[in-house]
Amino acid sequence: MITALDHIAIAVPDLEKAIKRFMEDFGLPFEGTEEVLAAKTTTAFFPLPETSIELVNPLNGEGPIAAYLEKRGGGIHHLCFRTDNIEQDVARLKDKGYQFIGDGPTPGAHGSTVIFIHPKSCDGVLIELSQPAEHH
Ligand code: CO
Repeated sequence: MITALDHIAIAVPDLEKAIKRFMEDFGLPFEGTEEVLAAKTTTAFFPLPETSIELVNPLNGEGPIAAYLEKRGGGIHHLCFRTDNIEQDVARLKDKGYQFIGDGPTPGAHGSTVIFIHPKSCDGVLIELSQPAEHH
């Protein structure tokens, strides 16, 4: 079940500059950066309850964000829906004909499990599903 708009992600060519903008110019609390190896991405999160802004920047200059920036410069990259059961939601949406990127969910930021729905299944919008890490 989808339970929240977890975050909106912006692809940025200069991460330090963008972090400064969101911290100093917009005054949002900065949660720190994280390298998400599976996505070849460095992320920076700014919680803005009940959602967050996520900046995404290529890790080591490669991966899907590098390709995006090369084509379009920066821009709104994806919306992320939080889910309480990613496997169930993926199965449900596949039954309805949605196409996903990759073979299955992969590790995301903050220990989450994530998968992206192909934009051609959603009128050109890239949508991520994310199940948060279990807290014990
Ligand atoms: Co994201």
